[in-house]
Amino acid sequence: MITGGSRGLGAASAKLLAAEGAKIALAARSAGDMAKIAEHLHAAHDTETLVVPCDLTQSESTEKVVDEVLKAFGTIDVLINSAGASQGGLFWEISDKVWAESFELKVMGAIRMMRAVIPVMLKNKYGRIVNIVGNTGQQPSPRLLPGSAANAALLAITRGVGEELAAHNIVANAVNPGPTRTERWVTLMNRLSQSSGRSVAEVESDYTRQIPLGRLAEPDHIAGLIVFLASDRAANMVGTSITADGGWNRGI
Ligand SMILES: NC(=O)c1ccc[n+]([C@@H]2O[C@H](COP(=O)([O-])OP(=O)(O)OC[C@H]3O[C@@H](n4cnc5c(N)ncnc54)[C@H](OP(=O)(O)O)[C@@H]3O)[C@@H](O)[C@H]2O)c1
Repeated sequence: MITGGSRGLGAASAKLLAAEGAKIALAARSAGDMAKIAEHLHAAHDTETLVVPCDLTQSESTEKVVDEVLKAFGTIDVLINSAGASQGGLFWEISDKVWAESFELKVMGAIRMMRAVIPVMLKNKYGRIVNIVGNTGQQPSPRLLPGSAANAALLAITRGVGEELAAHNIVANAVNPGPTRTERWVTLMNRLSQSSGRSVAEVESDYTRQIPLGRLAEPDHIAGLIVFLASDRAANMVGTSITADGGWNRGI
């Protein structure tokens, strides 16, 4: 079950998980984009994919999404929370609305999805939860504070939920990508370029020059880690996170 499955890291994870033989349920707003991914997965891997259009900022949609997946597949073994869309800008120019939207989708969306799926996993005495968070949760980025704060909250929640669930053979962990070339990143760079009056290349270089690898990640670099945390190979990892940011975060 993948939220934010219509593009970016959610879609990249769906492709790798389908190649591993998983049945996939995608949840996001764009039904057409998800239908195209479902077609691709069927053609490439003969995978059964369920598409569940929904707006995860609406609290009532979560239960409906989970009900639909249970009706179609009978159970949920893996939950990947990848829906997120925080905006950036100068702190003193960011409105309440932007802060609220960032938390409503990324933090409350992930909380509601976990709350709805955990009872299923408890019954099965098995589960894998992977929250796609972001390296700014550990190293806040001044122009990306709504996302940085949401990420810090989600890392804390992942740690606590992971500890709570471990005795039930359910492991919850997070992946912290650094800048990764998805639609979200492109949109973010365009917005920062417009608000600062600088070119997109100049704005992007503010980030890439802080990355020892000197480049953005590609979605597949991150999706591989998501699939690892969704697998039995991650059986001993509890409430932790894997940071894959090209070396940006210098903490040890
Ligand atoms: N790309 C990066 O550089 C980067 C770095 C660190 C962390 N992250 C995190 O990784 C996660 C995935 O990012 P991404 O780069 O893959 O972004 P993306 O390409 O923009 O994809 C975001 C996904 O979230 C879905 N979504 C947005 N609003 C939604 C809503 N209200 N209800 C349901 N789904 C919604 C989008 O689908 P619809 O528009 O169809 O609803 C889309 O599938 C995010 O949480 C992001 O903060 C990304």
